[in-house]
Amino acid sequence: MTSADLITVSNVTKTYGEGSSAFTALRGVDLSIARGESLAIVGKSGSGKSTLMHVMALLDTPSTGTITLDGTDTTRLSASRVARTRNDTFGFVFQQFFLIAGASVLDNVALPLSIAGVSRKERERKALAALERLDMADKARNRATDLSGGQKQRVVIARALINDPEVIFADEPTGNLDTATGQAVEDTLFTLNREQGITLVIVTHDPDLAAHCDRAVTIADGRVVADERRAA
Ligand SMILES: Nc1ncnc2c1ncn2[C@@H]1O[C@H](COP(=O)(O)OP(=O)(O)OP(=O)(O)O)[C@@H](O)[C@H]1O
Ligand SMILES: [Mg+2]
Repeated sequence: MTSADLITVSNVTKTYGEGSSAFTALRGVDLSIARGESLAIVGKSGSGKSTLMHVMALLDTPSTGTITLDGTDTTRLSASRVARTRNDTFGFVFQQFFLIAGASVLDNVALPLSIAGVSRKERERKALAALERLDMADKARNRATDLSGGQKQRVVIARALINDPEVIFADEPTGNLDTATGQAVEDTLFTLNREQGITLVIVTHDPDLAAHCDRAVTIADGRVVADERRAA
């Protein structure tokens, strides 16, 4: 692990809505994430965890403050540049990022490569390799809907890996899974972190998963209230 910060959140606020219905979900967050780190974001429901993850992952913009990625202030980039950076640099394991129902497992996994304009042959080769890592190659030609919950989650991880991302953002990656499948998903994420140095940012309510991360940041009412490193 190097000490260089990959993502720096500086004095970020996020207010949803306007006027009397406005709600401030982030109230001045400062947070630096080092390259290669595994970071858990924990806290009660409604505390602002997903909101923080969305602004760090460039899926949403902060109301005030900045998100710096690899030294670049992303709030100054054009929308198309942000979209390209997101597609090239990040992988997402979000339950709400559904698989495309009618499409094959292979095409679902290859989607970020289609967005990046990679040729069909290369897309298929890479998608199959990613599915192999998740022990899902035999389901490549299935429709994504014809899978169990744990298999779908593994397809989502395969898709998150396809662009060799620097960071994987995961929101409750083990949330709806049985213990054994949840453990397999967790093992996959930490293997990627250890062997490829992929930075992990994981929102979780699972204390066991949080305890496996290098560091756990606790959010309460839109603020960071604790930042603990696991003893080496
Ligand atoms: N699009 C939105 N419009 C208005 N309010 C929102 C919106 N998204 C989130 N909020 C509010 O912002 C607060 C933080 O939401 P967020 O989704 O970040 O919480 P969370 O910590 O991820 O919770 P959970 O553990 O339940 O997923 C909540 O009070 C929520 O109702
Ligand atoms: Mg959430």
